Amino acid sequence: MSVVYLNGDYLPVGDATVSVNDRGFLFGDGVYEVTPSYGGRLFRWEQHLARLKTGLAAIGIDFDAAALEQVKEELLARNGLDGVPAAYVYVQVTRGTAPRTHWFPDPPVAPTVYAFANRFMRPAMAEWRRGVSAVTVPDQRWARADIKAIALLANVLAAQAAVEAGAGNAIFVRDGIALEGSHNNLFAVFGGVLATAPKSNYILHGITRDLLIELAGEMGIPVEERAIPLPELTRADEVFFSGTTTEVRPVVEIDGRKVGDGRVGPVAQRLYERFLEAVEA
Ligand SMILES: Cc1ncc(COP(=O)(O)O)c(C=O)c1O
Repeated sequence: MSVVYLNGDYLPVGDATVSVNDRGFLFGDGVYEVTPSYGGRLFRWEQHLARLKTGLAAIGIDFDAAALEQVKEELLARNGLDGVPAAYVYVQVTRGTAPRTHWFPDPPVAPTVYAFANRFMRPAMAEWRRGVSAVTVPDQRWARADIKAIALLANVLAAQAAVEAGAGNAIFVRDGIALEGSHNNLFAVFGGVLATAPKSNYILHGITRDLLIELAGEMGIPVEERAIPLPELTRADEVFFSGTTTEVRPVVEIDGRKVGDGRVGPVAQRLYERFLEAVEA
């Protein structure tokens, strides 16, 4: 049974319990972070920590997230994941346990801190080359999608809509603009130029997104951070998702129509190869 971390203790997952008065349970009042580990080493932890700190500050939870580096490493070791090629550590911090009021507990209570680690299984290359299909869904999320909030109901409904349509993922569309996937950022290629939605309050500022933009720059692939209207997305040569537990995942069909020629394109392929080199370095 896996070992998880809860409020200072490492314990079997079956023994880890939180109160029904936890504000994460009652309100989805908290933030989370998922950090990858490659070859036993946390990858881009500084960036993940910075985003977690920004999220905590944005929702007014006072917690020293820097201490979590040690927790993450300990979880990897205790679960035998420090020797595997790829794993990830999930951590969530909620505002804590207090009688239910919409406003913050006053005085503040200790936040609830929960973390677990899991192995990451990358798809085999043959499967990756088949790509995935996607459906578009109206973006029904709140206007702070840049906060990695644990309240993910709109993302859950979007992912389920994809499952029910027999698709691999959903793409959020707000006011006619394709923004990102249900749990990933979105890239498109037009005539060799990579495009992705600019950072705003309407998307999560993905760490993988940043990495891919950096790598594309090194590879001489021009990148435009700009709005992609849905009609334009459906005419893209290539489309792919990015994310910590997605890495790079090509999309070969959107709403039943082929993307480009319906096969994984060269830009996604080259970027994925470069991405794998970067994380394995
Ligand atoms: C909505 C959304 N967008 C984008 C991402 C990708 O972010 P990252 O690359 O930091 O994992 C995620 C990851 O969970 C997400 O949930």
